[in-house]
Amino acid sequence: MKKIEEARRILEKYGQGHINVNTEELADQVLKIDFEQLQELYEQAIHKTNVINNIEDIKPVKAINPEKIDKKQIDEYIKTGEDVVKSGKFAIAIMAGGQGTRLGHQGPKGTFEIELNSKVKSLFEVVVDKLKEAQKKYNVFIKCYIMTSPENNEETVSFFEKKNYFGYPKQYIEFFKQGEIPLLNKQGKLILGEDGLIKLASDGNGGIFYSMAKNGIIDEMKKNNIKWVFIGSVDNLLVKYVDTLLLGLAIKQNVKIATRTIVKNSPYERVGVLCKKNGKVKVIEYTELQNEMRLAVDEYGEMIYGESHIMCNLYNIEAIEKASTKELKYHVAEKKAKYINEKGELVVPEKENCYKFEKFIFDSFCLFDEIAILRGKREEDFAPIKNKDGTDCPETAKKLYEEYMAKNA
Ligand code: UD1
Repeated sequence: MKKIEEARRILEKYGQGHINVNTEELADQVLKIDFEQLQELYEQAIHKTNVINNIEDIKPVKAINPEKIDKKQIDEYIKTGEDVVKSGKFAIAIMAGGQGTRLGHQGPKGTFEIELNSKVKSLFEVVVDKLKEAQKKYNVFIKCYIMTSPENNEETVSFFEKKNYFGYPKQYIEFFKQGEIPLLNKQGKLILGEDGLIKLASDGNGGIFYSMAKNGIIDEMKKNNIKWVFIGSVDNLLVKYVDTLLLGLAIKQNVKIATRTIVKNSPYERVGVLCKKNGKVKVIEYTELQNEMRLAVDEYGEMIYGESHIMCNLYNIEAIEKASTKELKYHVAEKKAKYINEKGELVVPEKENCYKFEKFIFDSFCLFDEIAILRGKREEDFAPIKNKDGTDCPETAKKLYEEYMAKNA
């Protein structure tokens, strides 16, 4: 009872008295919310534009193009990376907290199935295929950590169980949940879902570092002497999770973070772009890029800000640990979210009615003075599945994947 009263008092204090706390579960939820932070985020959402307009101190980055490096040097980088993998000091983490909404898929995005070279595979199976391939090549079972969301965790784990972990030993696949933060409606109010609880949403893929620490993953990695972790997305069929060239390059350059990029195919491609701000590498997300930067070209007509983030990021364990102790900033997005109104009726909005707050993984880049940037190739590194049809859809990704496999398998 005390808990319920306390929850009501807090809600009143922060102008959220419309939430009627009538269960202990709801009270527990309220007591966990950081209302000061939510207030600040709401202010940010209504007063600040997402687009980054202050670009005076922004400069282009320079990526390393492997085609311009001596073959012997490349082989040396690869050998350095391979030695780390073979020694068991390398792990991968997959960000699979997303729901594949844009794709029109019901369920965790990793469970989306696609026919590749006449076999129907889920995106999760494509990940495990790459782990199995690396096991054969390097004679080591690489540990794979899968970040789920509280919403899709159960379904993800039971999917793996049902599929018998696609033949990979179960002890090398571990799940952990990312964090959540409440949605706020356009008036800054919390909303209730059909389960009678406050509606929460995943805190963005940048929540991975804090979630790893909270779930004991960083401690476990340290105990197992893991030094490097590749963090990748679940929705790009061509990710090289075991990227020995990137790994070797990071080690030789003595940096704690490395990223593989590709060149944007048009100023309007929906990818984040790399730049330097106050001397440090930064990514500006496609939703926040302003036109002057988007359209800037050099004397040869090449995009000045064309180096794009494709979620192929490599972290030293020290970088993961450092990022887990820093509060990465929240970015604001507008979202459609169903809710229960004061009369107890379900409302299904036709347009965006809420603010969603998300941390972005690449905001960790600026925790270090330098990171390694390696330019990859679209046809070898990037076959994303984002939309149901049109660009970056299953059909375009399948084509890229099958062409790559025909050349490289
Ligand atoms: C993302 C990148 C963008 C990049 C593009 C390339 C970020 C913030 N944006 O954009 O810079 O150019 O991919 O394809 O990284 N995820 C979670 N939890 C969340 C949100 C997302 O695990 O809370 C995972 C998704 O499951 C997916 C990945 O992060 O594996 C990408 O998420 P999505 O929100 O689809 O990113 P994009 O908008 O495509």
